[in-house]
Amino acid sequence: MEIKPLTGAFGAEVLGLDLAVGIPEEQARVIETALADNAVLVFREQALNIDDFETFAKSMGEFGDTPFVTPMDGHPNVLQVLRQPDEEGPLFGSGWHSDWSFQLKPPSATLLYAVDVPEAGGDTAFTNQYLAFESLSESMKSILIGLKGIHSAERSYGPKGTFGRPDPDASMDIHGDETAVVHQVHPLVRAHPLTGRRSLFINEVYTVGIEGMTNAESSSLLKFLFEHSRQIDFTCRVRWAPGTLTMWDNRSTQHFAINDYFGNRREMYRITLAGEQPIRALS
Ligand code: SIN
Repeated sequence: MEIKPLTGAFGAEVLGLDLAVGIPEEQARVIETALADNAVLVFREQALNIDDFETFAKSMGEFGDTPFVTPMDGHPNVLQVLRQPDEEGPLFGSGWHSDWSFQLKPPSATLLYAVDVPEAGGDTAFTNQYLAFESLSESMKSILIGLKGIHSAERSYGPKGTFGRPDPDASMDIHGDETAVVHQVHPLVRAHPLTGRRSLFINEVYTVGIEGMTNAESSSLLKFLFEHSRQIDFTCRVRWAPGTLTMWDNRSTQHFAINDYFGNRREMYRITLAGEQPIRALS
């Protein structure tokens, strides 16, 4: 197994593995460490059926909870992320976010496997939230370390949210409801349980405020942090081909499904892995 950098900033391609035949426990832990270090791992030319995909995901950790989207028949932990060529409604994942950050224990990682993708378009972009934090001034870091972000699924899955009403024309059965309005508070700066590295745990889709601040205060600070996080130096982009599997670390990244492939079909399988309650960085 060889690990090659994807960009100068972060992300890596993992070469020399056939995930369909399964991987030994020892190799799974090497991949887990590589993910914590590189934040995004890309495995190319993998011929996987859904069972193989689940088996690989299980070797990396427990399955996480998947709210608001109906999973695949017979595979309660797998989502089919599907878009037909003529679909026009909101695109699943098309906003900067860290998966399900509104949960008490947000997923540690997500695995996305490409089944059918456009010739060009439909890439997934990532930010590196370690770099976003580390590049701030010491003064700003010390302010942020004491703060807690308020996360909620309301804007996406609440009754008035992007996916609040069922869309009979959509390929994915996304069903928001009133449970989405709940707030969950997490440290704004979290420490990664494997690397100890500190990352900025905010995202524009689910972080709706900062505990103890007025709306005016928190929205200005969050606006700065959202823009700071997605500056080009802290991003990478995965171009898909059928058989590409990408795994990302939700503790240290945000991602964005790019909506630039109208007229083309895109089908992916997606699994999230269970995570822990985010650990507050101490200093
Ligand atoms: C997601 O946000 O999990 C989906 C990303 C994608 O479809 O590229």
